Amino acid sequence: MAKFEKANSVGEWLDQRLNVKAFNKIMMTEYWIPKDINFLWAMGVLLATTFGILVISGLFLMMYYKPDVNLAFNSVNYTIMQEVAFGWLFRHMHGVAASVVFLIIYIHMLTGIYYGSYKQGREMIWISGMLLFVTFSAAGFSGYMLPWGQMSYWAAMVITNLFGGVPFIGDALVVWIRGDFNVADATLTRFFMLHVFLLPIVIMGLIGLHFYTLRIPHVNNQSSEDIDYDAEAQKYLSGNKKESKVIPFWPVFISKDLAVLGIFLIFYFYLVFFHYSFAMDPINFEPANPMVTPAHIYPEWYFLWSYEVLRGFFFDIAGISAFNLGLMAFAFANGIFFVLPWLDRDSKVLPAHKRPLFFIWFWILVADLIVLTIWGKLPPTGTNAWVGFFAAITFILLFVLLPFITKKDQERRG
Ligand code: HEM
Repeated sequence: MAKFEKANSVGEWLDQRLNVKAFNKIMMTEYWIPKDINFLWAMGVLLATTFGILVISGLFLMMYYKPDVNLAFNSVNYTIMQEVAFGWLFRHMHGVAASVVFLIIYIHMLTGIYYGSYKQGREMIWISGMLLFVTFSAAGFSGYMLPWGQMSYWAAMVITNLFGGVPFIGDALVVWIRGDFNVADATLTRFFMLHVFLLPIVIMGLIGLHFYTLRIPHVNNQSSEDIDYDAEAQKYLSGNKKESKVIPFWPVFISKDLAVLGIFLIFYFYLVFFHYSFAMDPINFEPANPMVTPAHIYPEWYFLWSYEVLRGFFFDIAGISAFNLGLMAFAFANGIFFVLPWLDRDSKVLPAHKRPLFFIWFWILVADLIVLTIWGKLPPTGTNAWVGFFAAITFILLFVLLPFITKKDQERRG
């Protein structure tokens, strides 16, 4: 057994047992971050903070929420919103954070795509990020069900129905997921468990993994320069801080992050106090009613783009039914981002503005995602249906063309 001497401070006592000084060095004071990064690199810390807000506000909501089809709606809309002191505040904080977190996730993902931060050793960062995206999506979907309003019920109905399209086992799968033939009490209680227990735990583990995957390849930078971290760190440690291209995560870099975080929190609380309604669908203030289908059923804004890819195929093509085509396109849209590091055939990490064809590809992707999101909420009739169809086809084509475009960019550079 190791020898322990009398410690002179709490820090020393902990260091003897947990080697906290070495840990502190590796993860904080000698965790090197490039100087050449902008506010977009603060999104990760914003995401971690917003997740923290979701957990804390969620804990307070859970104290009064009742996962029972007869009680859920009133426990949210009456007990929490009207009876519990500051219940409204926690509900608004939770609802707004759930919406805003997706906005930041999308900015964070698009930043990664723009700067090519998913390749050349950063593949695991990307994959762990995508796993976070999928788990956050599941958390968003399960949480939306809990108030048991009309949209909670019918969105759950539509989305669980999609699993019916899985070959051979589809029908049985839908019943298995719902725990009943219909979306019912058993569905609500299992989604409650997922939302308040299993998914948050998985997210915490994935955030740990995501942070760890950053440690070896280091974060990318604005010019995608391949930095010699050892040499630059030496410069910094020997006092040559101005010349060095890197800064330590703690306390230097974190102060930049905290500045961006401060601005974000002002914006976030402004929404919480003055514009929370954007995060709450008016139809969801009516209790769930299996006998009355709302005129238009649509998910929350952050799922609209993939929902529109699903709906875009509204007619049969080559003997394949519109439903099956939509499902395949939906599966494609949700899976394709996972393999992005391998679809990009340009072996060099460069920002999009130094890759002419990729630059155009990137902005068409952004425009297409915006079109899909806007049309995803409109009734899919007449011209709207065709806009949805072309936007869905464009999305698929973009990813089919990506390997050729990226290869061409590399060849042109020589
Ligand atoms: C939702 C929870 C997430 C958290 C808490 C998180 C956190 C972070 C942090 C702290 C960083 C380092 C600094 C920065 O670039 O912001 C980072 C980098 C990165 N994240 Fe995430 N992230 C999350 C989700 C995602 C998602 C959904 C993706 C994409 C699929 C992703 C992909 C990346 C990539 C590629 C980098 C490296 C950026 C670079 O090297 O420049 N992350 N993340």
